[in-house]
Amino acid sequence: MSLKAKVEDRSARIAVVGQGYVGLPLAVEFARAGFQVTGIDSDGSRVQALANGDSHIPDVASADLRALLATGHYAATADPAALAGQDAVVLCVPTPLRKSKDPDVSHVVAAAGDVARHVAPGQLVVLESTTYPGTTEEVLLPLFEQRGLKVGVDFYLAFSPERIDPGNPTWKVKEIPKLVGGVTAACTEMAALLYRQVVARVFELSNPRVAELAKLYENTFRSVNIALANELALICHHLGVSVWEVVEAAATKPFGFMPFSPGPGIGGHCIPIDPFYLSWKARLDGYEAKFIGLADEINRTMPRFVISLLTDALNARGKPLKGARILVLGVSYKREVGDTRESPAVDIIEELLRKGAHVQYADPFVPTLTVHGRVFDSARVNRELLQWSDAALILTDHRAFDYATIVAESPLVIDTRNATRECPAPAGRVVRL
Ligand SMILES: NC(=O)c1ccc[n+]([C@@H]2O[C@H](COP(=O)([O-])OP(=O)(O)OC[C@H]3O[C@@H](n4cnc5c(N)ncnc54)[C@H](O)[C@@H]3O)[C@@H](O)[C@H]2O)c1
Repeated sequence: MSLKAKVEDRSARIAVVGQGYVGLPLAVEFARAGFQVTGIDSDGSRVQALANGDSHIPDVASADLRALLATGHYAATADPAALAGQDAVVLCVPTPLRKSKDPDVSHVVAAAGDVARHVAPGQLVVLESTTYPGTTEEVLLPLFEQRGLKVGVDFYLAFSPERIDPGNPTWKVKEIPKLVGGVTAACTEMAALLYRQVVARVFELSNPRVAELAKLYENTFRSVNIALANELALICHHLGVSVWEVVEAAATKPFGFMPFSPGPGIGGHCIPIDPFYLSWKARLDGYEAKFIGLADEINRTMPRFVISLLTDALNARGKPLKGARILVLGVSYKREVGDTRESPAVDIIEELLRKGAHVQYADPFVPTLTVHGRVFDSARVNRELLQWSDAALILTDHRAFDYATIVAESPLVIDTRNATRECPAPAGRVVRL
């Protein structure tokens, strides 16, 4: 039976390598559509939890996972030998940066090496990890060709960037349009056919580089526009104007403008990291990308600016930061998720501790947080805690926080997200970015 026929009647066996924020929701979607899915992850304890039906991803309910395990449509394993006999393999492994800010594609190379060792004629291999343009053709393709297979004939290879937005209740795997760029036309066609089984709209591109670049452009676009909003916040601070009101005012223009919000800094995997995959590749080719470095520089000044806002507000009350009691509200990098990767809150807490402040934090999505080897437990926000603090510092605007009470009970509130905009406050109580 051809791969096309197996995909169309959903008897194809699919392996998803990497069961994190990207791989697990995708595996679940394929399993729901009736495919036989194996989630492969090198992290044994993660696999054990998944095999027990415990999801670590908020977008995947454990109950749904258990139902799929019970029907046999989903299984999790740490054993790469499970790659043998798969009809399609999708790679969703991490692509971090090295300390030097150069791309680290070692996980992609390791996972693709495993796939190549087990590749069988007729197999489709798709890379979803965000990476620099050329990875699919320069890094992955040779691994398969070394085994004597001809791409587009003996096997199919494509890049299809993941665009998932963890914690977003509106845009899930099914609804987010998918880009597909195959090494040959037959590769594009086969990968697009697979994704059309679970995604409403699939766009076919002429090659993997376009798909790799499109993803990096999307994330660079966000980084640059967030940086512009952050720079506007710095300018507004000097001019004594509310940046929030300026952004809202500009956003009334129904064309040619898209609002971005300032904040305490950027976090998560995509915005702080991915643009460097693009500038690194451009540099190899002799071109120095300017926007990317500048945007990163501005975004990285924000944690320090937040600390200066806090220090000045305390100072105005005759209180030094040293010895002050600071309650940090929200430590994940964005609203409604528990992800603290690259979160500016970690840098801010580190600096507060360095300067001798006493810090507690509360985050309904992050039960514990390790800063400089010290483990903090999330506190319960109540009147006593708010009154204990010299200042409440809002870094993530989770919906669960009761902002009216926070403003009413805290002696001082530093609000970096405009979360308290509708809360009545005595003059000088709330300092906004
Ligand atoms: N998280 C997001 O919001 C998001 C959005 C779009 C794209 N991406 C991209 O998707 C990719 C994956 O990101 P993520 O957030 O899912 O990462 P993650 O860290 O949540 O998950 C990756 C998983 O891969 C596993 N892994 C690593 N090497 C492996 C190997 N050789 N074999 C098997 N398993 C391996 C890890 O144990 C981990 O469980 C990255 O390239 C990222 O840039 C992420």
